[in-house]
Amino acid sequence: MENRPQLVIIVGSTREGRFGPVVASWVEQQVGPHGVFDVEVVDLATVDIPLALPAASPKYAGDDYPLPAGMAALTSALTRADAFIVVTPEYNHSYPASLKAAIDWHFTQWAAKPVAFVSYGGAAGGRHAVLHLENVLTELHAVTIRDGLSFPNYFTAWQDGRPLDPQAPVYARTVLDQLAWWAVALRSARDAVPYPG
Ligand SMILES: Cc1cc2nc3c(=O)[nH]c(=O)nc-3n(C[C@H](O)[C@H](O)[C@H](O)COP(=O)(O)O)c2cc1C
Repeated sequence: MENRPQLVIIVGSTREGRFGPVVASWVEQQVGPHGVFDVEVVDLATVDIPLALPAASPKYAGDDYPLPAGMAALTSALTRADAFIVVTPEYNHSYPASLKAAIDWHFTQWAAKPVAFVSYGGAAGGRHAVLHLENVLTELHAVTIRDGLSFPNYFTAWQDGRPLDPQAPVYARTVLDQLAWWAVALRSARDAVPYPG
């Protein structure tokens, strides 16, 4: 495909000894063979994301919003993205504070773009985190994808950097198919008419 859509995979956990990069790396490996996206991984552990926000709101301040220089790599990756995959663990039945901070600093970067989720955790496989993320990202006018990947009890369900379930790559293709459809459709819609949000 000419002018391939840009997929940004976000590693949501920043915890010492985290498992997140293992999941994100496997997800990235599924994207190449799928053949639609250009892909980059943004690891929130490598970005300085302040918890204290400015007085203004990114929704209303637009280009005047004072985005910190230490966050520039994150901001520019989100800006050029046509689609996102958020890789999230579950902390206390929700998603990590690092992800919330990364989300709240931005607005137009999410609007009218599709987001899919890959979650992992204990018995619930991170689904509580995903339910919360779907709610929050809808407020930012993102379009969340119906299908996703969820890995319950990841500590026994993964080995040598990949899930033991042989169907996992098949599920990943389904998610990428849906994400690609929305990425292309929404990019051409954004190009045709500025999103009114
Ligand atoms: C503060 C904290 C809260 C947690 N709460 C949950 C939880 O509610 N549900 C769950 O399935 N796992 C929970 N866990 C376990 C995580 O799923 C597990 O630690 C996982 O490795 C976190 O991902 P990470 O290693 O990428 O940070 C929690 C872990 C931490 C550190």
